[in-house]
Amino acid sequence: MSSDHLSRRGLLQATGATAVIVPAIAQAQGKREEGPQLKKGEGMNAVEFTVNGREVHLQLDPRTTLLDALREHLHLTGTKKGCDHGQCGACTVIVEGRRINSCLTLAVMHEGESVTTIEGLGTPERLHPMQRAFITHDGYQCGYCTPGQICSAVAMLEEIAAGVPSHATHDLRQVAFSDAELRERMSGNICRCAAYPNIIAAIREVAGEDEA
Ligand code: FES
Ligand code: FES
Repeated sequence: MSSDHLSRRGLLQATGATAVIVPAIAQAQGKREEGPQLKKGEGMNAVEFTVNGREVHLQLDPRTTLLDALREHLHLTGTKKGCDHGQCGACTVIVEGRRINSCLTLAVMHEGESVTTIEGLGTPERLHPMQRAFITHDGYQCGYCTPGQICSAVAMLEEIAAGVPSHATHDLRQVAFSDAELRERMSGNICRCAAYPNIIAAIREVAGEDEA
């Protein structure tokens, strides 16, 4: 039997298989298109939490991240979306006193909790001390990472005050203030403009630890 004959037969077999498979795929695709459709509002979850001191009630797709709930549903666009998967820290907000990446958590997980965003820390007329220090020390250039840096810095100083150790802590019995501590604790907040020295200077000022 020649290889020529074999390849013709192979081709015929393949063609036959294709003739069966293609309609089957089309049929399956057709079925998918005819699948049940959600009615408006169906599959949504009611969520209530406090944002910047204000109680909010939302109807959300349970897959909505806290970041999207803040930006898209509450129009609090001070919180930034950088990477949207936990790598840059631009989306940092404070929930129940702890800083978190709002892109990595679902809004429905924060039912009844208290969320503070950059808009809740201060206003242009009444700046939070950390906001003022960032301005004084030029702790930003483009400003995209800045809301996350400021929220993170505020909660981070609370962590130090509470004696929460970091990977840079030498003596777990006494959390000492140092640039190494600050850099480690702020390492989840990336600044592509590399304003890091000025950010550290701003945080030091607020902590009352400015260098002479
Ligand atoms: Fe959340 Fe980058 S947007 S960590
Ligand atoms: Fe531009 Fe930080 S100021 S990314």
